Amino acid sequence: MSQRVKVKQILLDDKTNYEVTVKGWVRSFRNNQFIALNDGSTNNNLQVVISQENTDPALVKRITSGAAISVTGEIIPSQGKGQKVELKAQTLEILGDCDPEQYPLQLKNRPSLEYLREIAHLRFRTNTFGAVFRVRHTLAYAVHKFFNDRGFVYLHTPIITASDAEGAGEMFRVTTLDMKKPPLDDAGNIDYKQDFFGRSTNLTVSGQLEGELGAMAFGDIYTFGPTFRAENSNTARHLAEFWMIEPEMAFYELKDNMDLAEAFIKYVIGYALEHNREDLEFLAQRLEEEEKQKPQAERSELKLVDKLEFVLNNEFERLTYTEAIDILKNSKPNKNKKFNYLIEEWGADLQSEHERYLVEKHFKKPVILTDYPAAIKSFYMKQNDDGKTVRAMDILFPGIGEIVGGSQREENYDKLVKRMEELHLPVEEMYWYLDTRRFGSAPHAGFGLGFERLVLFVTGMTNIRDVIAFPRTPGSADF
Ligand code: 4AD
Ligand code: MG
Repeated sequence: MSQRVKVKQILLDDKTNYEVTVKGWVRSFRNNQFIALNDGSTNNNLQVVISQENTDPALVKRITSGAAISVTGEIIPSQGKGQKVELKAQTLEILGDCDPEQYPLQLKNRPSLEYLREIAHLRFRTNTFGAVFRVRHTLAYAVHKFFNDRGFVYLHTPIITASDAEGAGEMFRVTTLDMKKPPLDDAGNIDYKQDFFGRSTNLTVSGQLEGELGAMAFGDIYTFGPTFRAENSNTARHLAEFWMIEPEMAFYELKDNMDLAEAFIKYVIGYALEHNREDLEFLAQRLEEEEKQKPQAERSELKLVDKLEFVLNNEFERLTYTEAIDILKNSKPNKNKKFNYLIEEWGADLQSEHERYLVEKHFKKPVILTDYPAAIKSFYMKQNDDGKTVRAMDILFPGIGEIVGGSQREENYDKLVKRMEELHLPVEEMYWYLDTRRFGSAPHAGFGLGFERLVLFVTGMTNIRDVIAFPRTPGSADF
């Protein structure tokens, strides 16, 4: 038997007169003769031509869209317009039939993303999702490559933990308790201390705190894993389970942190542009068609690939929260009154309309905001001398909003304990974290990048559910 080759390779090689075996799924079948075969390696289908005289009519009937087939034959120059080469079938085997009456994925009319979300178990078989998930893969690979090339250690932080890294209380409980007969404490309440052999446990919201332990030994580490937020927010930007990349670096201050984050984002986007051009061009085309449906005023000015290149070639704008508030205070409310950009008070958290104004209307490029009020940020951030702000940094992206959250960390033991006490955090239980500040403490910093938000930006998709294979949002957890 001849060697099995992937369609992408055949099209890339662009050679003829050799024998191959190709396995994949039928996308369409025309004139009882031309099969468009897709094997997931690329959106480009391989045209398979079968000889009507030499093929059993019973077999021809079973070539339906969705069926899995194996074809052996010769790669020859194609007479047709759409492709340079095609596969002239010598033998064709049906590996798995697909009843066209029952197959939910009829690709003749382009199915809507909403419909595809309902049949999420089949959506990988469409061009859009094929492209999205190959780009996602490339970005994930580029993440590891970026850090590996710079000598970072990939640290695997736990999924089940007793700590709340962000102190925001948005955690999924993990328990071994029998909820029909839960153990009770002295006051008669469920004793969650018995969740996990004497500790109350949850799914991690961030690997940062454990990451800091790693940074204080290895110097530079990163995590890349699933994180969980039990927030019931039904937005196009939030998931209950999302992947986060969290580098943490000893001897870094806020500026080093910003420099690394900017270089990192540019690197992974550049890597995708270089290694996944074809899929990105496809997604750009898709987006353009989608944009045409919108009224002129709402259409995006830049095409997808240009937008990515723009990010690569321009420095991110860096300013403090206080400077941003001044800009917002002096902004004019939006004409159609849908949004009011004005912000009344220093100290308020920025809403997404404020972030979008800064990024999309004012600077028209990615923005790094620093030195936020301590009151709206997490306990571990390094306190500034003004007594009001902390050395935080958020990176805001056009169309996305916050893509990165990070900071320099408070390395002073006394200041950190005092802050934790103010916030009623369990100082004693977190001895392991505080020990880094007792034994050879050092300045350090890090950030977290929401991987799906990056994939959203790069693919030009608009709903975060469409860039993660199995979205976990309120109401979706079947598979
Ligand atoms: O700003 P966050 O909450 O920061 C942290 O968790 C820090 N521990 C990170 C660090 O300094 N090591 O989350 C970081 C990023 C956000 O900027 C956003 O991109 C993403 O994670 N994110 C979400 N993505 C999808 N769905 C959600 N519910 C998200 N919440 C945060
Ligand atoms: Mg944040």
